[in-house]
Amino acid sequence: MNNRLAGKWVLITGASSGFGAESARQFAHLGVNLLLGARREDRLASVAKECSRLGAISVHIHHLDVVNTESVNAFADWARSIAGLVDVLINNAGGAHGVDRVEDGKDSDWEAMFQINALGILRVTRAVLPLMKSRPGGVILNIGSIAGRVAYEGGSAYCASKAAELSITKTLRLELNGTGLRVGSIDPGMAETEFSLVRLKGDKEKSDAVYAGVMPLMAEDVAEAIVWAANRPPHVCIDEILMMCTAQAAPYKLNRKV
Ligand SMILES: NC(=O)c1ccc[n+]([C@@H]2O[C@H](COP(=O)([O-])OP(=O)(O)OC[C@H]3O[C@@H](n4cnc5c(N)ncnc54)[C@H](OP(=O)(O)O)[C@@H]3O)[C@@H](O)[C@H]2O)c1
Repeated sequence: MNNRLAGKWVLITGASSGFGAESARQFAHLGVNLLLGARREDRLASVAKECSRLGAISVHIHHLDVVNTESVNAFADWARSIAGLVDVLINNAGGAHGVDRVEDGKDSDWEAMFQINALGILRVTRAVLPLMKSRPGGVILNIGSIAGRVAYEGGSAYCASKAAELSITKTLRLELNGTGLRVGSIDPGMAETEFSLVRLKGDKEKSDAVYAGVMPLMAEDVAEAIVWAANRPPHVCIDEILMMCTAQAAPYKLNRKV
């Protein structure tokens, strides 16, 4: 694979676990500079250590809560003070909270999902775009989901927040036309990360059951798609990637061997 990213500045939100942490590791292999954000700074620090070992030119971490505009703006100011510019923005921070049907839904879960998955992308992109506008060839990749394309029971607010992510991505693609910046959405199906543990409020048994009898996507699989999309030549924009594990033909169509 041609390495078009060596020496570039890559900013990843939600880099403390799952796709974000693994993308950081895979970008590190290409000799980039990393700007990593999330709320759990201890976890960010371990990811940063690994990335330095794997070949990143430099790795910088900072607290980031995408729900909070002040936190997002402080993060972008910090990125500007360290790097002055950003070549690749990976809007990955996100997650699902709860599996309730609408009739039992909790305001706190609904609000968290819209805040993180939809408004979070808007806030981070607004804050970071000024660092990218002078960088034709830059890339913004938003992490969506099959849930943004196909609704399922118990997924109302998560599916809606990921549908919002896809709409935001398409809007940015139109608004940034002519700047040389590229925008795309990477939309995975079921993948084994901390996602289900968070969704099921720390219930490990239920979370393990989500993946029982299937070989789900792993963080490595999704990170490979993210890095590949970011590494295309400047005239190529990967608008959308929808990827699922072989056993999953639709959110509910899972071939479980149990
Ligand atoms: N795993 C799946 O099946 C799957 C499928 C499709 C799409 N996705 C999407 O992929 C993305 C990554 O999820 P994952 O599977 O890698 O799950 P994960 O392991 O739980 O990672 C989620 C990341 O988001 C960060 N995050 C959550 N809330 C945040 C906030 N308010 N501010 C900043 N960072 C925040 C977390 O960091 P802190 O907790 O340290 O802040 C963590 O680094 C999400 O957008 C998710 O919706 C996942």
